[in-house]
Amino acid sequence: MPENNLVRFESVDGIGVITIDNPPVNALSPGVPEGIVESVERGNTDPAIRAMVLIGAGRSFIAGADIRTFGTNRPPPVEGRRPHQVLDASQKPVVAAIHGYALGGGFELALASNYRIAVPSAKIGLPEVLIGILPGSGGTQRLPRLIGPKAAMDMIVSGRHVPAEEAHRLGIIDELVPEGADLREAAIAFAHRIADKRPVPRIREHDEKLAEAKTDPGLFDAMRRQIARRARGQRAPYHCIAAVEAACTMPFDEGIRREREMFDELENSAEARALRYAFFAEREVARLPDIPRDTPLRPIKTAAIVGAGTMGGGISMSFAEFGFPVKLLEVSQEALDRGLARIRANYQTSVRRGSLTEAEMNRRLALIEPVGSYDDIKDCDVVIEAVFERIPVKEEVFKKLDDVMKPGALLYTNTSGIDIDIMANATKRPQDVAGTHFFAPANVMKLFEVVKGAKSAPDTLATAMDLGRKIGKISAMAGNGDGFVANRSRTPFGTEMNIMVEEGALPEQVDKVMVDFGYPIGPFATADLSGLDIGYDSRQRRAAQDPNYRKMPIADMVVEMGRLGQKTGAGWFKYEPGDRTPHPDPELARLIKEKTTELGIAQREFTDEEILRRLLFASVNEACRILDEGKAYRASDIDVMWLNGFNFPRYRGGLMYWADTIGGPAEVYRQIAAWHQQYGERWSPSPFLRRLAETNTPFREAKPSRPM
Ligand code: 3HC
Repeated sequence: MPENNLVRFESVDGIGVITIDNPPVNALSPGVPEGIVESVERGNTDPAIRAMVLIGAGRSFIAGADIRTFGTNRPPPVEGRRPHQVLDASQKPVVAAIHGYALGGGFELALASNYRIAVPSAKIGLPEVLIGILPGSGGTQRLPRLIGPKAAMDMIVSGRHVPAEEAHRLGIIDELVPEGADLREAAIAFAHRIADKRPVPRIREHDEKLAEAKTDPGLFDAMRRQIARRARGQRAPYHCIAAVEAACTMPFDEGIRREREMFDELENSAEARALRYAFFAEREVARLPDIPRDTPLRPIKTAAIVGAGTMGGGISMSFAEFGFPVKLLEVSQEALDRGLARIRANYQTSVRRGSLTEAEMNRRLALIEPVGSYDDIKDCDVVIEAVFERIPVKEEVFKKLDDVMKPGALLYTNTSGIDIDIMANATKRPQDVAGTHFFAPANVMKLFEVVKGAKSAPDTLATAMDLGRKIGKISAMAGNGDGFVANRSRTPFGTEMNIMVEEGALPEQVDKVMVDFGYPIGPFATADLSGLDIGYDSRQRRAAQDPNYRKMPIADMVVEMGRLGQKTGAGWFKYEPGDRTPHPDPELARLIKEKTTELGIAQREFTDEEILRRLLFASVNEACRILDEGKAYRASDIDVMWLNGFNFPRYRGGLMYWADTIGGPAEVYRQIAAWHQQYGERWSPSPFLRRLAETNTPFREAKPSRPM
């Protein structure tokens, strides 16, 4: 029997239909490649078969190799018997029929097939670089032969998913099948049409498009320069370029061998392991241990946002981007106009930069309906409150929402730190209330922190998690409490960066360390971008509430000098008018020195290593407290939050994953205990961290001490 239960071979009127059936996404798990090889061979030996169709059952073609098998002791593929090689050798033509996703090894099989047809909604791509590797089944050798090295590099180095219509324009897809038509039928008809055509087209035999590399030999170095900033610290993007270069300089089979060598080199690299971890962490985060998976969701067709400030505007843009109509409420006409003007200006910047078309801008703007009264939103299925961060203001809004909203409407708040139960208890329906915390800028950052109030109903939470996904975010659940999980775990990082500057480190040194570590911009430049007044106000509030609050004299001094960040042309750095580049400011360095002398704070030198550890270990310790209190389901959820809310470098996996790679709980505990002696209470090690250290449990396996 050539086929197995993962791959079926059926003979339909002289066409061999090979169906991959490995739910949910037809990954090439053990058994699938073997099934494909045997089916293609069967098609070739059966005289009744004239041509073959390769198609996926269920929702997709093939999403690629089975990532779960990477880094395990899987048997190496038998050379010459790999599916793309067997497809290459097929005497009878094979048509790949694509719907859903054809990614990675899946797309590579389509490339090794002789023809490709797809429905317009299909997406194709080689996303291997996003998990720290490169395409390893001939993708780097065939794609440049099909569309030229430049376009191939663009796809392989970015890993982007290319919509079928674009792929058709690029020459990757031979024919589009109308959406809704029966793809299998269409593929069989196509196969009949080409069955007798000879020679059978094989991408490997066509070198014409590679000539581009001869006329433009600087192409590869130009690409290296182009990615230099984005790809800092990583190897996979450079290997992708080298592999396409090999396609242009080596015969096909040699290029394939070179690609394989580089694939083997990367599969177990630190970067690939971290990126795989991040991939699975972002899927795991959707699992809610205390809410059944089949909890019925509340239908959401209409949404409202209360508050047209920066956050409310950004949230509306997130809805509009994904095609959701949204009502934007602001009772003052002036505030509403200002909010809309800001949204329009944001879109216009994107149009100017070429990342958005004018038509798309107009489509999105048309989805955002400005309204001036609570009555206008009363029938919406969901409302997200995004008003000023003051408890009485929030309470007032929730009382109004309770009065007007239809029964069963979901009442979410975008507070970044106020106790959710305060808002819930301002209503007579606390079961319908939860937090949905966006990260600035709300239309860009992917994290969507769902906060569970004491009385939030399971479907209120499950629907919030689903809503985040529908507007392109990554939803992560957090327990209620000061700062919830993301901001709470980030706060000690912010404290330490300020204290280190008091002790003699300069903002530019701290920023350089973190940029070298992989952040796109340093934490002081980020603070300048957000505006330093926000942190200042919250410090003043906390100092007024808590007599033991550790003041930040230097940070306060900067704000009191009127240096509020980019918007005032100076903050921790100096800015030229109209330019966002941070420039170190010797004048500020002098003022810091003056102030620390006045305060009698001893000054010293910091090593880069010490800066990195001070910032991140402080947060790891807080993350341990969060897990100890059961405010997060798992350490990897905290990693997902740091990756998508704070731009933590993805190729380092996340805060907790990274901590595991540099010695794990034992090392972190040792260092924190030493700093506890040196700096006192704020470094007191979390008992949870101590337990992990004593039991030799890696952070990523740590289980919270209690349920959320
Ligand atoms: N291997 C193993 N499991 C996979 C997988 C893969 N390639 N792709 C998806 N899955 C699993 C997910 O982990 C998830 O499992 P779960 O339900 O247990 O959590 C399930 O399939 C569904 O995935 P998603 O929740 O991500 O479903 P979406 O519909 O949101 O997204 C997708 C579908 C776009 C295909 C997305 O899953 C994805 O991007 N997958 C990875 C694609 C990829 O990187 N392919 C290249 C692999 S490397 C390769 O092919 C090497 C080759 O060159 C030799």
